Amino acid sequence: MIRMENVAKRYRTAAHGEVALRGIDLSIEAGELCAIVGTSGSGKTTLLNLMGGLDRGYTGSVTVDGQDLRSLTDTQLSDFRNRRIGFVFQHFSLLDHLTALQNVLLPYHFLRGQSPFGDHGDQGASARARQALDQVGLSHKYDERPATLSGGQKQRIAIARALFFSPRILLCDEPTGSLDTKTGQQIIDIFRELNTQGYTVVIITHESRVSTAARRVIRIEDGRITADAASEAA
Ligand SMILES: Nc1ncnc2c1ncn2[C@@H]1O[C@H](COP(=O)(O)OP(=O)(O)O)[C@@H](O)[C@H]1O
Ligand SMILES: [Mg+2]
Repeated sequence: MIRMENVAKRYRTAAHGEVALRGIDLSIEAGELCAIVGTSGSGKTTLLNLMGGLDRGYTGSVTVDGQDLRSLTDTQLSDFRNRRIGFVFQHFSLLDHLTALQNVLLPYHFLRGQSPFGDHGDQGASARARQALDQVGLSHKYDERPATLSGGQKQRIAIARALFFSPRILLCDEPTGSLDTKTGQQIIDIFRELNTQGYTVVIITHESRVSTAARRVIRIEDGRITADAASEAA
C-alpha cells in the first residue's frame, strides 16, 4: 500500500544542512496497523508527510496505492490525497464556528468551492458526513459546535472528516497527544476498529500505550529506521 525506496529529505532552511531523513526503505501492506515511534525531532512527521504526498521535496521514490507520487502533477497529487488518504493531527484542526457536521463536510465544500455554511442541496454528501460521524460514535452530536465538546469528541470529528471521502489509508500524527490516557485509549480503539474494517492505519506516537496497540512498530532515530518489529502485545 505504501512503499518507500531510499527516501531522503533535507530541509533547505535547516541549520547546518541538517538531514531529516536518510535512506528510508519501508513497505506497509494494505490492512496493516503500524505505529511509528521515536524521540522528538527524529523525523516522524517528515516521514508521514512524504507518505501522504504533503511534501514533494525528497529524493528516492514514494509509491502509495500503486501510484508513484512523483509522477503526479500538483493538482493530481492533491486530488489523490483527498480521495485516498485521511489525515488526523494532534490538534484536531476544527473550525469552532462550524457544527460537527459542517466540519466533516468542510473538505467537500472546499473542493467544490462552496461556503461551508448553509444547505447546498447536497443530500448525498450530508448523508455521507452523518455516516462518518456514526462511524466514530458521534451520531447524537451532528449539530454541536466543537467548543461544547470534549477533546476526545473533537478528535472523533476530525477522524470523521478524514473518513469522508472513504480513503484507504489513515495517516495520524500524534492523534492522542492532546488527550488524557483514558480518552486517548478510546481514540486508539477507534483506529483499531477502523483497521479491522480494512483501513490501513499509520499512527505516529511517542507513547508506548499506543504502540502496544499496534501490530507493527517502526522506530525512527535521527532520520533512519532502527527497528521494525511486530508489537509484543499485538
Ligand atoms: N519545516 C522545517 N524546516 C526545517 N527543518 C525542519 C522542518 N520540519 C522539521 N525539521 C527538522 O527535521 C527534523 C525532523 O523533524 P520532524 O520530522 O518534525 O520530527 P518528529 O516529528 O519526529 O518530531 C528535525 O531536526 C527538525 O528540526
Ligand atoms: Mg512530529
